[in-house]
Amino acid sequence: MSTNDDTTTAEAEQEPEPEGEPEQIPERDTLVETRRNAAKLFAGIAGSAAIGSFAVNGLVGVDSAAVKDTTTLTYETMYVSGTHLVDQEGNRVGLDAIPAGSGEMMTVFPEAEGGGALTAAGQTATLLIRFEQDQYAEPTNLDGVVEGYAAYSKVCTHAGCQVSQRDGQDLLCPCHQSVFDPLNGCEVVGGPAPRPLPQLPIGVTEEGDLLMATGHFEAPIGAGGGE
Ligand code: FES
Repeated sequence: MSTNDDTTTAEAEQEPEPEGEPEQIPERDTLVETRRNAAKLFAGIAGSAAIGSFAVNGLVGVDSAAVKDTTTLTYETMYVSGTHLVDQEGNRVGLDAIPAGSGEMMTVFPEAEGGGALTAAGQTATLLIRFEQDQYAEPTNLDGVVEGYAAYSKVCTHAGCQVSQRDGQDLLCPCHQSVFDPLNGCEVVGGPAPRPLPQLPIGVTEEGDLLMATGHFEAPIGAGGGE
């Protein structure tokens, strides 16, 4: 039986995001600039595996990373290590956002450079869910789960709808009823989706009170899955 349980954050990802002018790089934050430029460089490389080691290594604990809203965003550049998770209003998501072990979920986004939520026409929408830490099992990337929080792309791998509903503990896409198991790497357990929802590895900031990405999505988001 299906229930709509995505109630903690309003749905806004259906609205296309205006492209607008590129934001200015804050001169005061050279770390962000360096990371952004590197991300753009890697985004321009056809073989994109190289960014993985850049994004993950050596940056955990940095809490100032943000992502620039450009048309070149890929699943590898939507989040970089240190990017805060924010709600639709751009508020940074704290460790207390979802009650521990509740299994509840909310929609979050990468924090845009300069603040606010990087919504990017719904492609960046991410499901944040919280069970007990020991409920997760492989193929979940257990190193990317923290305090019972796990994050997955919200974009269905079948035809790109937003996975916004629940089927018990599982996640349900309302378009063609694909079902994903968030405790097992969001593997497909029903419906036509061809592959799991990509996981976003997450951790906490050095201060220990906010959630951030510790890398990028581990697979392409949405339908197709090749690029
Ligand atoms: S788009 Fe999700 S099941 Fe078809």
